[in-house]
Amino acid sequence: MAKKPTIISVANSKGGVGKSLVSIMLSVALAKDKKKKVLIIDCDNQGSVRDMYESEKENYEQDPAIEVEELTPRKVQTFLKRFGGDYDYVFIDVPRMTDAKKDNATIMLLYNCDCILIPVIGSEVDVLSTLDFLTIVQEAAVDKKEMGEDLKYFGFINRRNQRKSNEEFSNFMSKQKLKMFNNSLYDLRIFTEPSFHKSLLESAEGKRRFGEFYKEFLQKFKL
Ligand SMILES: Nc1ncnc2c1ncn2[C@@H]1O[C@H](COP(=O)(O)OP(=O)(O)OP(=O)(O)O)[C@@H](O)[C@H]1O
Ligand SMILES: [Mg+2]
Repeated sequence: MAKKPTIISVANSKGGVGKSLVSIMLSVALAKDKKKKVLIIDCDNQGSVRDMYESEKENYEQDPAIEVEELTPRKVQTFLKRFGGDYDYVFIDVPRMTDAKKDNATIMLLYNCDCILIPVIGSEVDVLSTLDFLTIVQEAAVDKKEMGEDLKYFGFINRRNQRKSNEEFSNFMSKQKLKMFNNSLYDLRIFTEPSFHKSLLESAEGKRRFGEFYKEFLQKFKL
């Protein structure tokens, strides 16, 4: 039987919380640092991942060689069955959801996943919509467990524009039964301050702002 990739989604119903950026950063780290084969499936019809990746790629001496595939949500499962075995890790970049509970196409995408990482940004509105999304993920985890499959999920604070203190926020999310990463993600200026380096984790900014977060990502999801 073909090997199964680990399927990961950085997902939240909310738009603009860093889903695509963080998917790219983690993909680059896995490809560069662990020498893994990584694919990002872009299910957002705005096709922003390819553009974002193209500009990020300029920062490296050697191309991180991540593949990007644009697919409608309906086609993902068939694609994974046919080609998933070619990769070690597949990230599914989901679009923002207008009504989280009714967006069945996106919900089905989450059922393909082994790992879901939920970015949360510190504002009341974000938290409320994240709670709806969390319910969906929790239900998916229960359903998958009944089928003998594991779905691990964690939240993390994307510090971008964040005003509330980390601790206050993490405690609130933990009460809602979302286990949070200890490390939040800092404002990554990699896009605006490009610097040539071999790997993301080798650059000063990558080490300082992304290194600990990435380490925790590997540990928490047992990758
Ligand atoms: N930690 C961060 N540091 C710096 N910039 C960030 C960070 N997180 C997100 N951004 C920036 O914020 C913007 C939105 O991020 P991104 O496109 O990844 O969000 P998204 O959740 O995928 O949005 P959408 O729902 O529109 O797909 C982008 O310009 C991205 O570069
Ligand atoms: Mg996006």
